[in-house]
Amino acid sequence: MDDVIRWGVLSTAKIGMKQVIPAMQKAEGTVVAAIASRDGERAAEAAAELGIERSYGSYEQLLADPEIDAIYIPLPNHMHVPWIKRAAQAGKHVLCEKPLALHAGEIRELIALRDEHQVVIGEAFMVLHHPRWQRVRQLIDEELVGTLRHVDGFFSFFNVDASNIRNNPEYGGGSVYDIGVYPVVTTRMATGEEPIEVMASGSFDPAFKVDTLSSVLMRFPTFTASFTCSMQISAYQQMRFFGEASVMSINMPFNPPDDQDLTIDIATGIRPEECCSLESIPACNHYTLQAEAFRESVLHDTPFAGGLEHAFANESVIDAIYRSMKSRAWETVIKL
Ligand SMILES: NC(=O)c1ccc[n+]([C@@H]2O[C@H](COP(=O)([O-])OP(=O)(O)OC[C@H]3O[C@@H](n4cnc5c(N)ncnc54)[C@H](OP(=O)(O)O)[C@@H]3O)[C@@H](O)[C@H]2O)c1
Repeated sequence: MDDVIRWGVLSTAKIGMKQVIPAMQKAEGTVVAAIASRDGERAAEAAAELGIERSYGSYEQLLADPEIDAIYIPLPNHMHVPWIKRAAQAGKHVLCEKPLALHAGEIRELIALRDEHQVVIGEAFMVLHHPRWQRVRQLIDEELVGTLRHVDGFFSFFNVDASNIRNNPEYGGGSVYDIGVYPVVTTRMATGEEPIEVMASGSFDPAFKVDTLSSVLMRFPTFTASFTCSMQISAYQQMRFFGEASVMSINMPFNPPDDQDLTIDIATGIRPEECCSLESIPACNHYTLQAEAFRESVLHDTPFAGGLEHAFANESVIDAIYRSMKSRAWETVIKL
């Protein structure tokens, strides 16, 4: 392989077409060379729209293309693990959308497969590659907020479309799988700690049978955390880090615009003069940075933020959250 990574994309998913593929096409040493769809015509149209060289009418055909180095998987959640396996068995590196698996246990098998086939497999948590989140981690390490005592998050949007994959329990739908994963992953990333146990309440839509409003408490070794996520509340997102000295707030923490500089806000009290925007983080596209980080891992064996051990830890928290919704009790987070 030369130093260009040639990607193939499994499906014409909205996230791929609108965000990830165009961002990948701007990444260094990165070519999106093929796209596949269940429908050959749809694949050809998608390829024409985004200037992709080749299109295939089945995912299998794309995996058989010897010129493809890496596969990006933005399929419905329940299809992630089966297609990661097939891609790894075909000798391809894999970047898969979140949640990479519906149960942490499935990731043990993927780790063995990764090691057997010597490929990179990662979860597409673009936030892990955003310099603002890397700066938040640094500021917490430097105790900008003093001793961290609590983290709180919120993530919502409104979607009651019965045909959307998020509203289908058989497809791994539900608000925790879809967006609750983000407060979990950013709390872990920003603090470097792993939750010990969780307690969760989930409200399930009576028709869709997926959780559409979920609140979660998490006990970490040195602080507590909470978040609420919903697919039936107007769009909103925020993360806050509460310390003994100050409170750090991150607006638009998960889907920030890529054409505006961003801030990290800090408050040492509640009066306007005690609140300020701490610093400006230059505009960037985290999907582009994600593709570049993945390429580095493939070419130079650098650890990928979102690798399988990391994915296991995140999915294990999600497993404990869904267990707690049923048991109505604290549930321990299983370690790898
Ligand atoms: N990282 C992020 O920022 C982000 C944002 C949104 C979503 N996501 C993740 O990306 C994945 C896709 O989300 P999306 O909203 O883009 O999905 P979507 O638009 O519904 O696309 C899913 C695609 O999967 C293919 N597919 C194969 N079998 C299917 C089936 N039985 N039912 C429906 N689709 C099927 C279809 O493509 P073909 O017909 O072309 O084969 C479809 O276009 C999810 O895992 C989601 O969690 C990530």
